[in-house]
Amino acid sequence: MAETLVFSATASRQQIYAEIAPQIEALIAGETDLVANLANVAAVLRQAFGFFWVGFYIHKDEDLVLGPFQGPIACTRIDPGKGVCGHSFTTDKTVIVANVDEFPGHIACATAARSEIVVPIHATDGSVFGVLDVDSDELNDFSETDASGLGRIVKHIEQYLAVTMPTGGK
Ligand code: SME
Repeated sequence: MAETLVFSATASRQQIYAEIAPQIEALIAGETDLVANLANVAAVLRQAFGFFWVGFYIHKDEDLVLGPFQGPIACTRIDPGKGVCGHSFTTDKTVIVANVDEFPGHIACATAARSEIVVPIHATDGSVFGVLDVDSDELNDFSETDASGLGRIVKHIEQYLAVTMPTGGK
């Protein structure tokens, strides 16, 4: 496995997503451990974009439980009916919030977070396995470019889940 991440630091976000997606695919294809893979995906996204917070919440024990992340400490459990993460989880949709202060029920793990994007991750049986959550300390920092770029990365995670958990579930 190549431990070096190569990307054009000054390129557009779209270009950087295109550069890192195949590297993430290769990175997680070579490892079977879920924590190791999610940890590296969070690290790649933080390294490539400098996002304020990048991490995963996994659906278990009726909650969304904090998984591997990069950034300040965060809430460990989220009620699946609450917050931006819960909204993405229950609606099974990517959610972009331009201003977290205007999102009813937003859970402020860190006061510096200003905008957010959450992408659902599916288990092989089609259920929502968890979510990828990215926070920015700038308002209105996420667009369809991020929905598409992060969606592509989540597809690689779902392919990994299909190989390691072929019957679906957790
Ligand atoms: N803001 C999220 C909670 C998780 S933290 O941002 C890391 C939410 O409203 O679901």
